[in-house]
Amino acid sequence: MLFAPHAIRWLHPAPFKLRPDMAILRKGPSMLLRLLSSMLVLHMTASLVFAVSGAKPYHLDRNLLPNGCASCHVGFDFSNGGGSYKCLSCHGPLNKRSKQMVMRNIQTKDVSKDFAKNYRHPVFDGKDIHSSREVLPETNSTTPRHAVCVDCHNPHYISGDNVYAGVRGKRIGNFNSTITKEYELCYLCHGDSANLPVRSTNKRIEFSTNNPSFHPVEGEGRNLAVISLLRPYRERKGADNDISIIKCADCHGSDDSNSANGPHGSKYQGILVDNYATGDGLPESSFNYALCYRCHKRSSILGNESFPFHSRHITGDLNFKGGGTSCYTCHSSHGSTENRYLIRFNRDYVTESSSGKRQFVEKGTYSFHGECWLTCHGVDHNPKSY
Ligand code: HEC
Ligand code: HEC
Ligand code: HEC
Ligand code: HEC
Ligand code: HEC
Ligand code: HEC
Ligand code: HEC
Repeated sequence: MLFAPHAIRWLHPAPFKLRPDMAILRKGPSMLLRLLSSMLVLHMTASLVFAVSGAKPYHLDRNLLPNGCASCHVGFDFSNGGGSYKCLSCHGPLNKRSKQMVMRNIQTKDVSKDFAKNYRHPVFDGKDIHSSREVLPETNSTTPRHAVCVDCHNPHYISGDNVYAGVRGKRIGNFNSTITKEYELCYLCHGDSANLPVRSTNKRIEFSTNNPSFHPVEGEGRNLAVISLLRPYRERKGADNDISIIKCADCHGSDDSNSANGPHGSKYQGILVDNYATGDGLPESSFNYALCYRCHKRSSILGNESFPFHSRHITGDLNFKGGGTSCYTCHSSHGSTENRYLIRFNRDYVTESSSGKRQFVEKGTYSFHGECWLTCHGVDHNPKSY
């Protein structure tokens, strides 16, 4: 299991590009030999994975793919990951699937619909800039960003035991770690990448369990009392069905719960599973903050059970100037390196107070008292206390 994901690479330390069958023949017997020997190794490692973990990789299982390696390796350009369209011949629309490719009784999920939505991973958007030899996170800030199917899935190793099997993890010294957790996959491109988009932040830093607050993805949260939490979500795991650790997938994925799992695409901005309005001057509604209300009870937030001025800010009532404002104006979605309660003021709307401060100060743990130094909607908080 340990060496399995990289076995093919051992065999081909020099750049080795697989070509369609005919091209391989033209390149002479040495190339053909390499293909045959790699097949042998792959078969051996496949059976090794099978022996150790008990789960056979889906794509190497002839009970699922009767044509074996040829299902993918005929008419296939490997210089760029094979091209994501090839995957759709089995994971695309049912009526466009090639017959005989998959055993008739096997149902594969259609991922194509999600990739056609407005907010998606750019799998079919760009030129094929994936290279089978790349190591992520990217260290060159000028390399264009990309994401194709094989960046997130290794077709030779995906199995029921570890869907991330075979995806090369972060480099540690001379080794590439093995990915077992979803967030490790995401950090390959949304963590320490030198080519992060300007407005994007390092998610590894945001979710660090050393932060004063964070949504509990890498580990349980620090808070003992998050009053608004809906069951089965809990601050700490007590009973078996309590959930105290969540996944990126709980917030990022398809808007359609019948669709394939995975952050492929969604009709909601941010590839979110539900709508989340992040602007200012908005009416409050269950739809505007639907994502948060999946886990935080709307009536608790609007009933001011924690922050006594939640309702006033969110709904914009009591002559609050300029309508309500989003949770996003005060809260980070992921984590805060500075404050508790995920407090992070949105600089698009929140400016400094008359004394030049933009700051949240807590007054006593779990006391529901604090003060804010800032200016918003023209109102100077210098400070305002609760
Ligand atoms: C489900 C489709 C699929 C099946 C089935 C499949 N492969 Fe692959 N294979 C790929 C893709 C896609 C790549 C390119 C991966 C990349 O660029 O990261 C690849 C790459 C390779 C490479 C080049 C490796 C490298 O590091 O560049 C070899 C060798 C290979 N496959 C052999 C095989 C053999 C042998 C089998 C049958 C036991 C097989 N494959 C079955 C999709 C498949
Ligand atoms: C020849 C048909 C075929 C091709 C081509 C193919 N797959 Fe698959 N794939 C299958 C089958 C069959 C399964 C097992 C049934 C299932 O769970 O969907 C599967 C399973 C998967 C799974 C795991 C699904 C799960 O339930 O956890 C992923 C992920 C996946 N394939 C990705 C890919 C990617 C990426 C490519 C392109 C490199 C690809 N597949 C190409 C047939 C194919
Ligand atoms: C191989 C690289 C790669 C991996 C791995 C990856 N992403 Fe992405 N992701 C991208 C690229 C490229 C974009 C397009 C925007 C950009 O450049 O950041 C993107 C966009 C997104 C967006 C939308 C950003 C926006 O501006 O609205 C979200 C959300 C996202 N990814 C979440 C995830 C999650 C969750 C995971 C792990 C399950 C993940 N990504 C894994 C490359 C990747
Ligand atoms: C509790 C819900 C939640 C969880 C869990 C979550 N996100 Fe997000 N994420 C959001 C929301 C809401 C937005 C849109 C608003 C924003 O940008 O903060 C977002 C935006 C993003 C973006 C686009 C903005 C940017 O900075 O590039 C990326 C990328 C992203 N998330 C990646 C991840 C990754 C990776 C994980 C897991 C390690 C994750 N998210 C877990 C709610 C969540
Ligand atoms: C940015 C990373 C990323 C990209 C790009 C990506 N996937 Fe996925 N995919 C995931 C994750 C994460 C999952 C969920 C794995 C799990 O079950 O935890 C997933 C799940 C799947 C599944 C299983 C769905 C289910 O309901 O069980 C299939 C099939 C699949 N992907 C195919 C593809 C194909 C085909 C492509 C390219 C067209 C692709 N993926 C591109 C990250 C990605
Ligand atoms: C004007 C700023 C502001 C806005 C807007 C805001 N919050 Fe808060 N929120 C706070 C402050 C301040 C606290 C910390 C209160 C304390 O414990 O001292 C807090 C605490 C919380 C908590 C932790 C305690 C609990 O109730 O479980 C949650 C969850 C929360 N907010 C969710 C939301 C959601 C969801 C929205 C949008 C619908 C929102 N907040 C809008 C300022 C805001
Ligand atoms: C999938 C469930 C889920 C979703 C969706 C979700 N949260 Fe949370 N949230 C949690 C859990 C679980 C905790 C408890 C963490 C802990 O124990 O510290 C939490 C804690 C919080 C806290 C308190 C953190 C602290 O350390 O005090 C705030 C504030 C918060 N969430 C705001 C939001 C906002 C705003 C949204 C919408 C963008 C949102 N949450 C969406 C599950 C979720």
